[in-house]
Amino acid sequence: MSYDLVVKGGTVVSASDTFVADIGVADGRVAAVGRIEEPGRKTVDARGKVVLPGGIDAHTHFDMPFMGATTIDDFTTGTTGAVFGGTTSIIDFAIQSKGRTFRHALDDWHKRAAGRCAADYGFHMIATDFTADRELEMSKMIDEGVSSFKLFMAYPGSLMSDDGAIFRALQRTKDNGGMVCMHAENGSVISVLVKQALAAGHVSPEWHALTRPMTAEAEATRRAIALAELAAAPLYIVHLSAGGALEEVRRARARGLPVFAETCPQYLYLSHDDYRRPGFEGAKFVMSPPLRPKGNEEKLWEGLGRNDLQVVSTDHCSFNMKDGGKSPGKVLGKKDFSKIPNGAPGVEYRMLLLWDAVQKGRITENRFVALTATNPAKIFGLYPRKGHLNPGADADIVVLDPNKTHTFSAKNHHVAADYNPYEGKTVKGSIRDVFVRGTAMVEGGKWTGRTTHGKFLRRTPRSFDLAL
Ligand code: URP
Ligand code: ZN
Ligand code: ZN
Repeated sequence: MSYDLVVKGGTVVSASDTFVADIGVADGRVAAVGRIEEPGRKTVDARGKVVLPGGIDAHTHFDMPFMGATTIDDFTTGTTGAVFGGTTSIIDFAIQSKGRTFRHALDDWHKRAAGRCAADYGFHMIATDFTADRELEMSKMIDEGVSSFKLFMAYPGSLMSDDGAIFRALQRTKDNGGMVCMHAENGSVISVLVKQALAAGHVSPEWHALTRPMTAEAEATRRAIALAELAAAPLYIVHLSAGGALEEVRRARARGLPVFAETCPQYLYLSHDDYRRPGFEGAKFVMSPPLRPKGNEEKLWEGLGRNDLQVVSTDHCSFNMKDGGKSPGKVLGKKDFSKIPNGAPGVEYRMLLLWDAVQKGRITENRFVALTATNPAKIFGLYPRKGHLNPGADADIVVLDPNKTHTFSAKNHHVAADYNPYEGKTVKGSIRDVFVRGTAMVEGGKWTGRTTHGKFLRRTPRSFDLAL
């Protein structure tokens, strides 16, 4: 057998095992794992390094119009940052405009992404008005490889769906192989709290968090689970942040319900205190759900370890702090916290932030792989093509140096955002090489790839073991 690439002697980590092996790659796929004697056309020495399946970030927003702005990372900068950070596939959210079809949104997102991605990419579909026509259109989207649908219980008047629409979407996914992804916050209650805060003259970024309490997330999570149970459908909770919401997921899973949830690094590493930074700096952390009080993150870490949470994604949704440039950013809410575009960058930092948790003994290296690659691949119809390094899988390979450190900064990241929420934080571990389908994208920490290498990922309908 002749190999295009051999990654030699690294410590290969899967969701279940850790072992020293060589990996042989042919035609963009893993061809052999074990002891490989013959050299590849390219051979990479990975001795003393960790070899991981490329990360899958199941939650990004590139080039997305939102709250009067457009996210500052487009598919080129977003996926370039992703690859530098060890993420080789992303799933972004196409947004249906009210009154228009999913088809229209999907065509639009294909135009935004095609020929502009370094990483492989797929799409979820956000439903903003879930009419009977959209209900029927769901299966067409699944045929197009878009097998998951995000609905919002927050943002009344723009994105929010009522319980009836959510229930209908869930009923459909019971049989059509789709998956409903839920933004679970009680938007009606939040809207009252926001109005009351503004009327009382509270305009600073911290009030974004004070008007989106943890109970509003727990209540919506409980309701979403109840609706899914009524519809006998599976459910995936996105960007879960609050301990109370996690408790709802834990209870549902303990009852055997097919409920899954992701959290994001910001809820593990940042906290409500970041809203109290001087001046307008708290706006950097305005996202929904908001950062939670210190101590809450411990519940999330426990949930990650106990499989109450199955995925860590980023919800990368970047807006600049400085004014000017291609889109207005956080300054839109300088005088009114409710107008600050919600979201923050994350796609480039996720793998190293979580690897740091491995180094600190919070999670095992196998759990790291499950959370960052294998589980998102299974839940979102990319497995067995992605999410592991067994023969036959796409050769999305990350070589990580566990002995080097990395310091996060806007000065050295590759996404377009003009700030880094983790500015100055040093972690143990550094991404050395990244391969997407066997093609070198990053070597020795330097870019050697093409920003057009990424291919559209046509995802399969739900087929994973719901006992995941
Ligand atoms: O603040 C956030 N999360 N912005 C992106 C939109 C969403 O709800 O995921
Ligand atoms: Zn959301
Ligand atoms: Zn999001």
